[in-house]
Amino acid sequence: MDFILRNLAFIIIPFVYMTLVFIGKYIVKYEWQFIVFAFVLSIAVFFIGGQFLEWNVFSGQFSFALFLLVILPGIFKRGNSFRSVIDPVRGDLAIYGFIYLIPHSLTNLEKALGGFNTTGTLAALLMVPLVVTSFKFVRVKMKPSSWVALHKLSYVAYAAIYLHTGFDVWLNPFQIYLKMNSWPVHVVTLIYIILKLRLVYMKKLELKTQT
Ligand code: HEM
Repeated sequence: MDFILRNLAFIIIPFVYMTLVFIGKYIVKYEWQFIVFAFVLSIAVFFIGGQFLEWNVFSGQFSFALFLLVILPGIFKRGNSFRSVIDPVRGDLAIYGFIYLIPHSLTNLEKALGGFNTTGTLAALLMVPLVVTSFKFVRVKMKPSSWVALHKLSYVAYAAIYLHTGFDVWLNPFQIYLKMNSWPVHVVTLIYIILKLRLVYMKKLELKTQT
C-alpha cells in the first residue's frame, strides 16, 4: 500500500490524460474559468480534507502528476499523437500543478521551514517565473526568443522536483537519503534523460543533413 501511495502520481497521470482527451478543447476555450475553478477547488480541498484528498492532493502527488505531464511530452517530436493532446494545454497544466500545491505547501510548511525536504520550496520558487509566463496574456507580451530562453529554467525546476520527490533531504545537519519506495521516480527520470538526449541528437543530425 505504501508503495502505491508514494507513487500515486503515475496512477493519476492516465486519468488526467484521458480527461484532457475529452475536455482539452474546453480548457483552451474557457481558460480563465478553469483556472479560477482550479483555484477555488484547491482552497476548498484544503478545508475539506479527508483520506482521499490526503493521499492525492495534500501529499503533493496530484501536482507532481501534472508537472510530469508538462515535461514528459518533451521527449516526443512535435505533432506526435501523445503530445498533441498535451501541447494546447501544457501551460494550463503547469498553472494547475502550482495551484494544487497550496494544500501540500501549507500542511508541510513547518517541516520545510525546519529543514526537512526544503527542496520542495526551492522547486516551487523556481516554478514561479515559469508559471507566471505560462499565462497567455503574459506570454504574448514577451519576445518569443526570451520566452523560450526563460523556459529553459524548467529543466532546473524539474531537477529540483526530482530531488524533492526522489530523496529525503535534511538541511541541519545535512543528510540525504533515497526516499523509500521511490524507484519509479528514478527510473522515469533516467528514461526521460536518455530519450531527451536522443531527441536532441536526432534534431542536430537532421539539421546537419539539411545544410
Ligand atoms: C514543485 C512542487 C512540489 C511537488 C511536485 C511536491 C511533491 C511532493 C511529493 C510527491 C512528496 C512525497 C509525498 C509522499 O511521500 O507520498 C512531497 C513531500 C514533501 N513535500 Fe513537496 N512538493 C512540492 C513543493 C513543496 C513545497 C513548496 C513544500 C513546502 C512548503 C513541500 C514540502 C514537502 C515536505 C516537507 C515533504 C515531506 C513530507 C513527509 O514525508 O512527511 N513541497 N512533495
